[in-house]
Amino acid sequence: MMGSVSPIIRKLSIPEFTTNTPVLVDIYIAAMNYDKAIRDTRIEVWRRNSQNPGFTAVAALMDDQVVGVAYGFNGSPDHWWQHQLRRGLRQQGGPTEEEIHIIHNYFEVAEVHVQPGFQGHGIGRKLMHELLKDKQNTFAILSTPEVDDEANHAFSLYRSLGFTDLLRQFRFDGDQRPFAVLITALPLHDS
Ligand SMILES: CC(C)(COP(=O)(O)OP(=O)(O)OC[C@H]1O[C@@H](n2cnc3c(N)ncnc32)[C@H](O)[C@@H]1OP(=O)(O)O)[C@@H](O)C(=O)NCCC(=O)NCCS
Repeated sequence: MMGSVSPIIRKLSIPEFTTNTPVLVDIYIAAMNYDKAIRDTRIEVWRRNSQNPGFTAVAALMDDQVVGVAYGFNGSPDHWWQHQLRRGLRQQGGPTEEEIHIIHNYFEVAEVHVQPGFQGHGIGRKLMHELLKDKQNTFAILSTPEVDDEANHAFSLYRSLGFTDLLRQFRFDGDQRPFAVLITALPLHDS
């Protein structure tokens, strides 16, 4: 059984990201077990996301093969995602003053995925640390599908990095699945 593995973790420039988007999206599709039919649309969305202010992408490489990817950008009132977030906060009686403060300065972790077979060995943790290193944002926010008892690598990882609940059982427009929206103050604590 593979213990802790030592991939190269490094930032991707925007051109590196846009050139390699198909390979990165394939990792996402495999990790999330999604239908390959979404591939072209996601490639387009990911490339578009790379234009967002604050865009940062990191990859995990093992023997020149990409085995993990994470990216994000500054939260913005122009983004669909922030509109959804505001709706969720309103539904739970907010936003509170603290939540308004949060909405004004967060980094959205849009995606983090590790190739099946390489999961559970610390690569996701390294990707998150590299992605969020030296960020000027006060908070990082992400969403993840709800699972019973938070029993998956994603929840274990985010909890161990200090993420707490912002929204639970939240339904984004156009998606039937409930999501947890999780938040942490930056910098990440080192555990
Ligand atoms: C979520 C995901 C990106 C996390 O990446 P990962 O490399 O598996 O995560 P890590 O190994 O860093 O941490 C996950 C787990 O490994 C443990 N772990 C961390 N470092 C470890 C190490 N050196 N050795 C062994 N286990 C380790 C963590 O404690 C955590 O606990 P768990 O095994 O009880 O779940 C990855 O599992 C994945 O792609 N999953 C499917 C897609 C997905 O859910 N993406 C996120 C959607 S929001």
